Amino acid sequence: MSHTIVIFGASGDLTSRKLVPALYSLARSGDLPAGTRIVGFSRTVLTDDAWRETLLESTRRHAEGFDAASWPAFAASIHYQPGDIANRDDLVRLKQRLEELELGGDATRVYYLATAPQFYEPVVAALGSLGMAVETRGPRRIVVEKPFGTDLATARQLNTQLHAVFAESQVYRIDHYLGKESVQNILALRFANTIFEPVWNRRYVDHVQITVAEEVPVGRRGGYYDSAGVLRDMFQNHLLQLLMVTAMEAPVRFQANAVRNEKVKVLEAIRSLDLAEVAAAGVRGQYQGYLTEPGVDPASRTPTFGALRLEVDNWRWQGVPFYLRSGKSMSCRTTQIVIGFRQPPLELFTTAPRRLAREANRLVIQIQPAEGIQLHFHTKVPGEGMQLRLTDLEFSYSREFSGRLPEAYEPLLLDVLTGDASLFARSDEVEKSWEIIDPFVRAWSSVDMPPIDSYQPGDWGPQASADWMAAQGRTWFDMCPVLT
Ligand SMILES: NC(=O)c1ccc[n+]([C@@H]2O[C@H](COP(=O)([O-])OP(=O)(O)OC[C@H]3O[C@@H](n4cnc5c(N)ncnc54)[C@H](OP(=O)(O)O)[C@@H]3O)[C@@H](O)[C@H]2O)c1
Repeated sequence: MSHTIVIFGASGDLTSRKLVPALYSLARSGDLPAGTRIVGFSRTVLTDDAWRETLLESTRRHAEGFDAASWPAFAASIHYQPGDIANRDDLVRLKQRLEELELGGDATRVYYLATAPQFYEPVVAALGSLGMAVETRGPRRIVVEKPFGTDLATARQLNTQLHAVFAESQVYRIDHYLGKESVQNILALRFANTIFEPVWNRRYVDHVQITVAEEVPVGRRGGYYDSAGVLRDMFQNHLLQLLMVTAMEAPVRFQANAVRNEKVKVLEAIRSLDLAEVAAAGVRGQYQGYLTEPGVDPASRTPTFGALRLEVDNWRWQGVPFYLRSGKSMSCRTTQIVIGFRQPPLELFTTAPRRLAREANRLVIQIQPAEGIQLHFHTKVPGEGMQLRLTDLEFSYSREFSGRLPEAYEPLLLDVLTGDASLFARSDEVEKSWEIIDPFVRAWSSVDMPPIDSYQPGDWGPQASADWMAAQGRTWFDMCPVLT
């Protein structure tokens, strides 16, 4: 059966920077199913050839290892249908164009919502009313980009709108973090080996730190960011996804519902907090200079940095805090998960400074920009006495595997085409995520909160964040990636 990918928001940034370069790379490596068509839809009036020309330029810039010789064959599969989502006649024309391109035959169709979130509902309703979600001529799937709602109520509403037209099995809620090799490798590390499992629990783990730090400020996204803030932008999706893959139990098989059942159980085990407890379970900050960014309210209290402590109340993790933190304008761009193991019960080698003791016994999973794993431990320095030094075992993806690492969108797009939803969020998963993050959003935007702490661009967040960790007897792993 042939495949058609329909992109709503064809002239936008996501399409040109991520989606089409990913599809091109898949085609080039021979992984895109033969005969896959790409059909773009947006208001800008373009011909097929004009859109192909625009995409040639952007794909050249954004697809690693672009090869001009392989472009014409790929470009032949690209088509464009101008139209406005608000205009039913334009959507009828899109439907006719798809049927023409598919020669009236069967095809797996993927509708990709790469538009602003306010268009999700109108597109879904139109697809429903035009009978375009019905699966009589092949599977029909819909990909929904982030943000999926802005709180629990809006996420529920969007799920209801989707379910009025599509069955849950047709819906793919994308979080591109789950397409990253190193995130999927967490599942391999934990469930394809037996050496980590015995220590992956409250008996041996003291705490877990998950950091998504960005070096860049909000830049031209000021308008969106000021209404979203760091909690909605990073915590509800990426950080909770990383927490789930770190904390979940082994699924009974590697299949969408089995994997998603285990992930949801983690969210269900996260302790709910009342508003008073929420204030003590986090730190927020705003980088100096944020208030003069374009699109930002000069009196804004929107946090650009956040750190939360979540407790997973189940047999494996009870009493092990999960620290989640993210910010803009931080020291460097890094996404990492640090498993901090417990210290030895007795300090035999008192020559080791205390700081050193805390830095050993750590497993660091680097997710971006460099991808790999480091195990930090103590080693005796050769010579007299028991002088200790911090050393590590290191696995680097780029050193181990030659060639290009696929961009996160590549495996995810392939999964949608083949109907594998394992790495996509289920409706209950997104709702549960919002249920966890909503109280923090409410508490942090309350007028009763003290003024927000500021931090210098290039710092690891406000000083209050380090103090908060120190008060709990712990320190943040503030290290920029050393892996290559
Ligand atoms: N950009 C990223 O890296 C990124 C990453 C993750 C998630 N996302 C999400 O992906 C979505 C798209 O983001 P983006 O950055 O690509 O946005 P964008 O650059 O603003 O693109 C929006 C697209 O929607 C089209 N559009 C707007 N109104 C329309 C209408 N009435 N009818 C038909 N098409 C219409 C625009 O084209 P016309 O003006 O030609 O109609 C444009 O192609 C958002 O939900 C965003 O949150 C983006």
